[in-house]
Amino acid sequence: MSGTSERPSVDAQGAAGRGAVVSCSGIVKQYGDRAAVDGVSLRIPAGTCYALLGPNGAGKSTLSRVIGGMARRDGGELSVFGMDPALRPSDVKARLGWVMQEDALDEELDLAGNMRVWGSFFGMPRSAVEERMPKLLALLGLEGREKAAIQSLSGGLRRRLVLARALLSDPSMVLLDEPTTGLDPQVRHVLWSALRALRAEGMTLLLTTHYMEEAEQLADRVGVLDRGKLVGEGSPQELLARHVRRFVLVAAGAGAESEAAARACGADVRKHGDVIAAYHDDEAALRACVAQGRFVRAQVRPSNLEDVFLELTGRALDA
Ligand SMILES: Nc1ncnc2c1ncn2[C@@H]1O[C@H](COP(=O)(O)OP(=O)(O)O)[C@@H](O)[C@H]1O
Ligand SMILES: [Mg+2]
Repeated sequence: MSGTSERPSVDAQGAAGRGAVVSCSGIVKQYGDRAAVDGVSLRIPAGTCYALLGPNGAGKSTLSRVIGGMARRDGGELSVFGMDPALRPSDVKARLGWVMQEDALDEELDLAGNMRVWGSFFGMPRSAVEERMPKLLALLGLEGREKAAIQSLSGGLRRRLVLARALLSDPSMVLLDEPTTGLDPQVRHVLWSALRALRAEGMTLLLTTHYMEEAEQLADRVGVLDRGKLVGEGSPQELLARHVRRFVLVAAGAGAESEAAARACGADVRKHGDVIAAYHDDEAALRACVAQGRFVRAQVRPSNLEDVFLELTGRALDA
């Protein structure tokens, strides 16, 4: 799957010259007799964004916690900033920013108070916190809200505060565990813009997500995780080129007749429940196929990472 013949994107090649921030091979993490992470190998070049994409329970949080030194691995080799997090957890943690699913904001304090408390956790001098805070609040569009009560913040503003807080200690890499889960789509875009700005400044990002659009929008490389295993890896473009044809006809209520019609058009046909997905490199061929009128609620669209996930695992990302 992650073959040696794979060519990194131009971006990743440039960044590879600066070395890998994370490099791991054969990582295993057991809970009882179940492996939450089951032999994962990957590499994250400095200054790139790596997305772990997979459904609930795939092992994304566990793997990111192992990489960040928050959970001990049961097997495999791991190097983060050239250190083993199992041996030097505090040194690794000191260079990381975290955006976890539980935001642990202090409701008793206002927005700026939460930033200051975080700075003191990291042993930052108060003057350094005061100096950095305005820049970070501006980056996340939170300027002018210093005195806002935490309870008054929407879900999107809370997430932006958590990201601003994670950047306070000037980390070398930020780990984001499902940073936009539960947010409205338009709020999600605001956070994506902030993450793209960070990435453009050379920050290394590791994010977990079950939104294929999030991975497509942000990631230089995507690791497709399923049941603890990395089942596919590459840039979004590489994954698409390797695993699915360029366009797909999706139709509901598909019977044998519509399946046969799609095959007759030269498409690769997959059935998922009563939904038919017919893949073809030629969009016009799929549209001509739809025009024959044998499909119910047919839609033709470019293939995406959801299709890649289906192809690799036989299941949907949100299943
Ligand atoms: N602390 C824990 N104790 C026992 N099992 C756990 C623990 N954390 C995660 N798991 C199990 O490990 C698997 C992977 O979980 P997780 O890493 O949270 O997946 P994801 O983040 O992709 O949803 C799941 O089956 C989950 O139930
Ligand atoms: Mg998780």
